[in-house]
Amino acid sequence: MVSARPAVAAMPAYRPGRNPADLAREIGVPRAVKLASNEVAFPPLPAVVEAIGATAGETNRYPDNGAAVLTRALADRYGVEPAQVAAGCGAVTVCQQLAQAFNDPGSSIAFAWRSFEMYPLLAQVAGAHVQQVPLVPGTPGGTRDTHDLAGLAAAIDETTRLVFVCNPNNPTGTAVRRAELERFLDAVPAHTLVVLDEAYREFVTDPDVPDGVQLMRGRPNVAVLRTFSKAWGLAGLRVGYLLAEDPAVADAVRRTHVPFSVSSLAQAAAVAALASEAEVRERCAAVVAERARLTAALRDRGLPVADSQANFVWLPFGERTAAVAAALEAQAVITRPFAGEGLRVTVGTPEEDDVFLGALDAVLTSGTADQTGA
Ligand SMILES: Cc1ncc(COP(=O)(O)O)c(C=O)c1O
Repeated sequence: MVSARPAVAAMPAYRPGRNPADLAREIGVPRAVKLASNEVAFPPLPAVVEAIGATAGETNRYPDNGAAVLTRALADRYGVEPAQVAAGCGAVTVCQQLAQAFNDPGSSIAFAWRSFEMYPLLAQVAGAHVQQVPLVPGTPGGTRDTHDLAGLAAAIDETTRLVFVCNPNNPTGTAVRRAELERFLDAVPAHTLVVLDEAYREFVTDPDVPDGVQLMRGRPNVAVLRTFSKAWGLAGLRVGYLLAEDPAVADAVRRTHVPFSVSSLAQAAAVAALASEAEVRERCAAVVAERARLTAALRDRGLPVADSQANFVWLPFGERTAAVAAALEAQAVITRPFAGEGLRVTVGTPEEDDVFLGALDAVLTSGTADQTGA
């Protein structure tokens, strides 16, 4: 009988946010509002739709394996050389490539926890040890929702080849500030690559939250990860990228890339999205305004919501989390529960968020969550 490697057999499956179709099938709820996966609610940008149409006739051919046009456009956008850029099939695949490129079995990957749920899974596949450093309260007496960078620096040892700092952090939305992050980067040894995972960078409004691309300058062991899935509206096409100060880092990521995994449609769409940046900025501003409204509405209800710098908010329901999420789903609203910890809710349109708030009121006043969630 064949058997998967023990590390793989023992892995919990990655659980993506549920879709309205899942709810329709499983509990017979039609037309659910999906606030589970941090996409933006806007349709694809007009230029993107046009680019996909124009490229559709080329899909009998393999795409450009080096994504040269996209790589050039990204290099120009960020003021780096194309050799410092590695495009991939979503930022998550770039994370996997990083582990493959930098982690021999038995080496380590460090990150805060809770953070992006793929980090421990990809470490396990790479045969790497995981060095998890618990989040700490971001405000006195608050829940654990913020990076402990001093703790993360202390956890790094000679086995640590890779560190992920998710800023803003998924799922808590909190962000680390410049002075703290610079102190951390100064403390990290040269043999450890720090990847600043900035999947939600475009939603950051606090000027004290540093732009990783500026921070990486002059630091050869720092790289930045970004994605077209969130602000740029291309979640369904899968494009992410790494920007590295040291071209050798980008080169290592390209070496571990699955050939042709960024499709021609995805490349053309990403280039078109970059050319529509002004429109993307407007959309992000609308999301940020709605984030403020949603945060205030939740706080008005007495719920402790951390300041989010991303396009989602975090509700630390603790032991009640799974019950609240299930009760919301029965009300046709899909959020992202992390059982025993909290609920991550994507900022939707004002209409979607009002549906969510109404459903939450119904769930909290009915006491359903209290009875089943203990
Ligand atoms: C922190 C973080 N990094 C990376 C990703 C991966 O994004 P994608 O693979 O869609 O580019 C996500 C997606 O949710 C994320 O939250």
